[in-house]
Amino acid sequence: MKRIITYGTFDLMHYGHIRLLKRAKALGDYVIVGLSTDEFNQQKDKKAYHNFETRKKMLEAIRYVDLVIPEDSWDQKKNDIEKYQVDVFCIGDDWEGEFDDLNSSCEVHYFSRTKGVSTTKIKNELGV
Ligand code: CTP
Repeated sequence: MKRIITYGTFDLMHYGHIRLLKRAKALGDYVIVGLSTDEFNQQKDKKAYHNFETRKKMLEAIRYVDLVIPEDSWDQKKNDIEKYQVDVFCIGDDWEGEFDDLNSSCEVHYFSRTKGVSTTKIKNELGV
């Protein structure tokens, strides 16, 4: 069983998120998403449209996602990787290089972002 982990807010679920999750699943068998809590988003100066519970339910409905856990701090990743016996950490390349230190615990993989879509863009264009 090859386990993959990724992190993010996944607000206003869009095609870029789905593509990221599909590629995560293709790296192995079991995909864990560390989903930013509303409190953690506040720390990041980010405000999601959907609350944590709604974003979690939407992620759980996606066939590429096996488990959703809360992400409430920057430094929990190493612990999660050990706890869930993770083989691969992956994230979009907007974070390229940022998590290379996790290399000592598991494989680290950056995916190219899907062009032309983001939660920020949707929010701006819809004015929400
Ligand atoms: N992602 C992606 N392609 C996009 C948008 C997001 O591959 N067009 C990836 C990110 O790189 C990250 C994951 O999806 O690994 C979750 O990203 P998140 O920050 O929740 O989504 P964004 O649309 O980037 O949100 P925002 O505009 O608020 O930053």
